[in-house]
Amino acid sequence: MNKILNIKDIAPRVKEYVIENPDIARHCLPGQFIILRVDENGERVPFTICDFDREKGTITLLVQEVGYSTHKMAMLKVGDSLHDMVGPLGNATELDAYENVVLVGGGIGCAVIYPQAKLRTKKGQKCDVIMGARTKELLFNIDEFRANSDNTYIATDDGSMGTKGFVTTVLQQLIDEGKKIDCVFVVGPMIMMRNVSELTRKYNIPTIVSMNCVMVDGTGMCGGCRLTVGGETKYACVDGPEFDGHKVDFAEAMNRAGFYKEHEEKCRLRG
Ligand code: FES
Repeated sequence: MNKILNIKDIAPRVKEYVIENPDIARHCLPGQFIILRVDENGERVPFTICDFDREKGTITLLVQEVGYSTHKMAMLKVGDSLHDMVGPLGNATELDAYENVVLVGGGIGCAVIYPQAKLRTKKGQKCDVIMGARTKELLFNIDEFRANSDNTYIATDDGSMGTKGFVTTVLQQLIDEGKKIDCVFVVGPMIMMRNVSELTRKYNIPTIVSMNCVMVDGTGMCGGCRLTVGGETKYACVDGPEFDGHKVDFAEAMNRAGFYKEHEEKCRLRG
């Protein structure tokens, strides 16, 4: 259980892990996540399930090396096992009600929109994809996205691929061209999700964001993933991870997300 069957380098400091866990693979749905510990003393870290294979009993995670635990995970090899994993947690993404959907992914967030693109294509539903990154080296699975969308657009901050600018630059262009958009689903850095939500608010386009909060227990007990949504307290682990982007208090969420950064960096440097 929790044995790593395959590791693939996807982008600098980003690895794809195929992990054996038949119980989670049997029950999970796109949009749900797991919480794992790399070793006995490890912190509990949430990861979205990017893909799964019910027959093989495997799930796929994309892990960006950003802190102490993800650094420890990057040291593991094929054949090693993670100490423990719980899931599937959270609610599945519900986009079936919308006909014309634009999936927006920023950086590693592209890994979260991929199963949605795959699922919609499998069901014969329309979807366009906007992928954003600082530079082209940080983009991944572009061919897979092209095969699983009506259109895949790319934005890079430095212009090394696609439109020079942000995902909002491309989204604004699509809106200006009169493209019919019934819903935008966006996953990425909080500031990006906030900016997309601010843009779509002006045009009354329903927008769903996937909140990548700090999580501990994943069961609504610890309060680590607390958010304010539409003036109400919500917990990303049990009420989300997806919420109406027009109602999320991003200022508060970003403030809380930055809370552990210094401690995290100290742990990482200590090794
Ligand atoms: S992770 Fe503890 S309340 Fe959500």
